[in-house]
Parts: sequence; C-alpha cells; structure tokens
Amino acid sequence: MIKLGVNIDHIATLRQARMEEYPSPVKAVALCEKAGADSITTHLREDRRHIQDKDVFEIKQCMRTKLNFEMAATDEIVNVALKLQPYSVCIVPEKRQEVTTEGGLDVAGQKSRLSEIVKKLQDKGIIVSMFIDPEPNQIEACAEVGSDAIEIHTGKYANLFKLGKKHAAAELEKIKQASVLAKQNKLIFNAGHGLDYNNVYDICDIKNLNELNIGFSIIAQAVFDGLEKAVIDMKKILLKY
Ligand code: PXP
Repeated sequence: MIKLGVNIDHIATLRQARMEEYPSPVKAVALCEKAGADSITTHLREDRRHIQDKDVFEIKQCMRTKLNFEMAATDEIVNVALKLQPYSVCIVPEKRQEVTTEGGLDVAGQKSRLSEIVKKLQDKGIIVSMFIDPEPNQIEACAEVGSDAIEIHTGKYANLFKLGKKHAAAELEKIKQASVLAKQNKLIFNAGHGLDYNNVYDICDIKNLNELNIGFSIIAQAVFDGLEKAVIDMKKILLKY
C-alpha cells in the first residue's frame, strides 16, 4: 500500500488571502485524517505566505497521524524544526518569488552543510528526507549526507503529462530509475508535486514507492465537492427572511 501524505498548505493560502481566522488548517488536519490520510505535510516557508509558526505547533499538538514538515535548509527554519520535533522533515529549496517549489534541492552542491543539518535533526529522532529531481548524482548525494529518505519532485512529469501521456514517458522512466537507485542506497522512496486524479496512476505503478505527498489537487477538488452544500446552507438562512 502506498501511503498518502496530504499537504494542507493551501487551506492556509485561502485564509491568508483575507487574513481571517478561517479556514483553519488544524480543522483540515482532522478531516484529512478521518478520510484516511497517513500523514500531514506542511511547509513553513521563510516568507510565511501560507502556513504560520502557530499553525505547525497547533497541528502537531492536535494531530493523530504523522507530521511531515517541509523546510528550507536555513538556520531559522532548522531551529523551528528542532523545537517542533515533527515525525519527519523534507528539506526543500526555496526561492522568494516562486509560485511553488519549482525544482529539486541541490544536495550534491552543499553536502557538508546538509550533513550537519541531517545530523542535528536525526539526533532529535526526526526522519530526514530531501526533495530532489530524479538525478542519480542527487540520489547518491542524499545517501552520502545520511538522509533517511528522498522525495522525488514529480512536477516536471506532471507538466509533461498535461501535453499527453507519451510526452511524460521519458520523465516517468527517470523516476522509475530513481526508485531503483534509492533502494540500492537504502533510501525510503517518496514522491510528490503536481500529482492529481489523472496523472497519479503511472506513478503508483512504480515499485518501492512508500508515500506520495499531494496538496493542491486535493484542496482544489475539495472546493467543488463542498461548494454545493456551502451555497445550500447560506440559501437556507436567507430563505427564512
Ligand atoms: N512535496 C513537496 C516537497 C512540496 O514542496 C509540495 C508542494 O508544497 C508537495 C509535495 C505537494 O505538491 P502539490 O501541492 O502540487 O500537490
């Protein structure tokens, strides 16, 4: 069975659009868990554009499953992770202007810094993963820095899939090869980014896949699954007057 980690960042994106108290990511966690999510992923970005510090601590306190904390490799966020003590962290690259995490982390280019961070986190009992592109040198670098897991960035695959399945075939093959190399290096193999209700099937066929982290498509789908009831409920009130 492939595990599902639900990324709830965009519940907070909606809340921050109006600087309101709702919709609450904490409330979303309980619903995701009730629906079968195996873990909950949140990304406390340096720019705090969606999830806030208060959210991650509240989520950790209320949740029943496992917290997977996405984080940049900065001193500030490493300190938050050490205090928060999530079940796992996934180290991601971060650029201020990006709409979302655009590419994988360059682990090979910063091995000594990442080794230090990995050790600090593992000393607190936190499982460490790295969000990387399906490149052999990056996978080997993850093993060298002592990472427990990798999460392959499936964003390129998802973008190519939009052009048609055959356009995504070569990238899918790279991801498959990445899973083989991960196993050889004793790394837990996860994947995520841009996965949706159409493009996820071929990814699920990959052997050795532990967990998928999916956010945007689930939150987007939830809007339509819930919109009808939300309008009915407001209409019911207005009809009384
Ligand atoms: N995994 C990682 C490491 C991510 O940074 C993200 C996006 O925050 C996701 C998975 C989820 O991507 P999406 O929202 O496109 O499903």
